[in-house]
Amino acid sequence: MKFFIDTANLKQIQEAQSLGILDGVTTNPSLMAKEGIKGQANIIQHYLDICKTVSGDVSAEVITTDYEEIIKEGKKLASLHPHIVVKVPMIKDGIKAIKYFSDHHIKTNCTLVFSAGQALLAAKAGATYVSPFIGRLDDTSTDGISLIQQIVHIYQNYDYQTQVLAASIRHPMHIIMCAEVGADVVTCPLDVILSLFNHPLTDIGLAKFLADYKKSQ
Ligand code: G3P
Repeated sequence: MKFFIDTANLKQIQEAQSLGILDGVTTNPSLMAKEGIKGQANIIQHYLDICKTVSGDVSAEVITTDYEEIIKEGKKLASLHPHIVVKVPMIKDGIKAIKYFSDHHIKTNCTLVFSAGQALLAAKAGATYVSPFIGRLDDTSTDGISLIQQIVHIYQNYDYQTQVLAASIRHPMHIIMCAEVGADVVTCPLDVILSLFNHPLTDIGLAKFLADYKKSQ
């Protein structure tokens, strides 16, 4: 399973990259705004900085919703760097645009996916990735992990090549459960990735090993 980091914060991307376990980055307009990245020139420069930091795919989201505009914006984003994946919302014009990008060998990430039917449309259009938002489903008393399981099953039935990228990950159990049901990718905030390290028995065991070593010197 690939690990992406879900942030536009360069320091956090660098920290995750330095661990040696990072496969890519996802961003969205809210995450860019959180970092105070404003204006077209700054946004483009920031995507370039992210692309220089990681060796894998970097999702950059369009902010247009009309087919022609999405194509124009997506082509511009894709031309910035080979790592760029054009992130497109799950709407009619978005699906049409994903089909166009797929036919023109431009990688895409279909975002804001909340149902198996939407995921089926994304795969039919040839999306590189589909992003079901599991935390936001959980927030509405709907099981996000069950949706990941359902999409993985449907894609396997028909050998769709679209990768299931579980997004809106909120805690380490989301990551474990995504791995259990066969998600291709999880995209997580840095603190959730780091929380996988935590186990009190590791801390207690290491403290004892080091103390015993000191005693033996
Ligand atoms: O990748 C999508 C993600 O950024 C949404 O996460 O926590 O805002 O639902 P969240």
